[in-house]
Amino acid sequence: MLELIKRCPEYVEGYKEYCREMYDNNVIYFRPTNPDYIDDGWFSRTKPWYDRKEQGLAEGQPVSFHYWAVDGGKFIGEFQLRTDFPEKVMLDIGSIGYAVRPSEQGKGYGKEILRLGLELARGHGMEKVLLTINDENKASIHLCESMGGVWEDTVEACNEAEGQHLLRRYWITL
Ligand SMILES: CC(C)(COP(=O)(O)OP(=O)(O)OC[C@H]1O[C@@H](n2cnc3c(N)ncnc32)[C@H](O)[C@@H]1OP(=O)(O)O)[C@@H](O)C(=O)NCCC(=O)NCCS
Repeated sequence: MLELIKRCPEYVEGYKEYCREMYDNNVIYFRPTNPDYIDDGWFSRTKPWYDRKEQGLAEGQPVSFHYWAVDGGKFIGEFQLRTDFPEKVMLDIGSIGYAVRPSEQGKGYGKEILRLGLELARGHGMEKVLLTINDENKASIHLCESMGGVWEDTVEACNEAEGQHLLRRYWITL
């Protein structure tokens, strides 16, 4: 059964494998941590920063919660939730980020991660979430629309992995 769990030391090796798979497959729509940075001290070194993000105390970062998606001990993917709406959320990263490792895609995990993630958003008291999706990301567009995403508009965007691109903005009402 798929679960969304908070980051924890037990799954660091699984997270590293997932990050490696994402980089090896050149997934551009969601860039996790560079796997080369994940060594024995990585979890404890980075924990304070993730804790500060949850409290909105990380400079330049929206309030963010990071979850790992696991199924029976296997690392499947991740889910990120941003609970406020600064410009970075509105015009770039959106309220939600999600990914499934390439070897586990097409098995229904993406849909389940988003379903569980929307429950978490509700639990945080959110009434709606914004999803921002590259206009060419057919899988994510399909998934978002199938979960009730309502297209608002398409804006121009640019980042290191995707370059200049069109970004669709969708609202899901919770
Ligand atoms: C988007 C993503 C999370 C989907 O995960 P997944 O586990 O493959 O998705 P699922 O198996 O749950 O499929 C969900 C739906 O999308 C459809 N789908 C999957 N891949 C598709 C594709 N390439 N084109 C069109 N539809 C697709 C499935 O058929 C399914 O539709 P259905 O519910 O009508 O049957 C995954 O492709 C991924 O991690 N992509 C890279 C990271 C990313 O793009 N993140 C989102 C950034 S906005």
